[in-house]
Amino acid sequence: MADVVSYKDLGLVNSREIFRKAVDGGYAIPAYNFNNLEQLQAIITACVETRSPVILQISKGARNYANETMLRYMATGAVQMAKEMGVEIPIVLHLDHGDSFELCQSCIESGFSSVMIDGSHLSYADNVALTRQVVDYAHAHDVTVEGELGVLAGIEDEVVAEKSTYTQPDEVEDFVKKTGVDSLAISIGTSHGAYKFKLKEGESVPPLRFDILAECQKRIPGFPIVLHGASSVLPEYVALINQYGGKMDGAVGVPEDQLRKAAASAVCKINIDSDGRLAVTAKVREYLQNNPSEFDPRKYLGAARTELIRLIKHKNETVLGSAGKA
Ligand code: G3H
Ligand code: 13P
Ligand code: ZN
Repeated sequence: MADVVSYKDLGLVNSREIFRKAVDGGYAIPAYNFNNLEQLQAIITACVETRSPVILQISKGARNYANETMLRYMATGAVQMAKEMGVEIPIVLHLDHGDSFELCQSCIESGFSSVMIDGSHLSYADNVALTRQVVDYAHAHDVTVEGELGVLAGIEDEVVAEKSTYTQPDEVEDFVKKTGVDSLAISIGTSHGAYKFKLKEGESVPPLRFDILAECQKRIPGFPIVLHGASSVLPEYVALINQYGGKMDGAVGVPEDQLRKAAASAVCKINIDSDGRLAVTAKVREYLQNNPSEFDPRKYLGAARTELIRLIKHKNETVLGSAGKA
């Protein structure tokens, strides 16, 4: 068996303290997914420059794409890079949407400081049992755990029609008590990807179910709540993508004012992946179209990285409120 690595030796922190401060302070910690070097450089640069705590997320797709060991070493390099930039910010390395005990265990043993066990597709009893098993193992290593109750609609689903997928407030207190989780992801109308709502001509995005959020908060006062699927799908990126040869008609996300409202409540972690993908795609398309003879990836990926830094600073400063909280 490979040696067990403690996240503390890598300069990482778990999410306990930063969540407590975020709940008390009425802001949210950004959780950005990364799959490659330029994304990671952009996240660290933007979070150091805005003095924001940050959660670096690794998904199953990221592990398949870039290799788990590679990503972990990259995250360690990122911690070092942040230090060399002269400002200490809390950095969490988090498993996004873990789907088994074994996966969570292997991430904990390889230096992750936080894991999500996503049992939201299981029966309630099975979700409780699996989450409890992960929590017991994680807490023995001082690693924090995110659980999930309620299913986020898939990108093909009719979000507004699927009432049954929203988190049921009556379950949250029992779930938190029985599992011992440190934070809870809930479903209040967001979904993953760039096509979150199917809107007919003239329709606007339906508001998130803040009533469900309020009911959950009432049952578990002060407990850290997590919002997945929180990209805003900024129209300027969709327009650039379409202008430079892409085809993303109908792409729509959660308006930023809704996220501001969520961040000011018990929502203390906001997951953003698609917005970064859109920024990168828009800038790569634009660069290549405007510079047809260029073939150095550093040029077009560099342009994408610059835009990603701008986007992340914008999120931290004007949407999540995490800037200056490191
Ligand atoms: O929750 C989903 C994240 O956006 C990660 O997606 O599995 O395609 O990397 P992925
Ligand atoms: P988006 O697709 O809205 O960026 O959501 C990302 C996410 O929830 C990662 O877990
Ligand atoms: Zn998610």
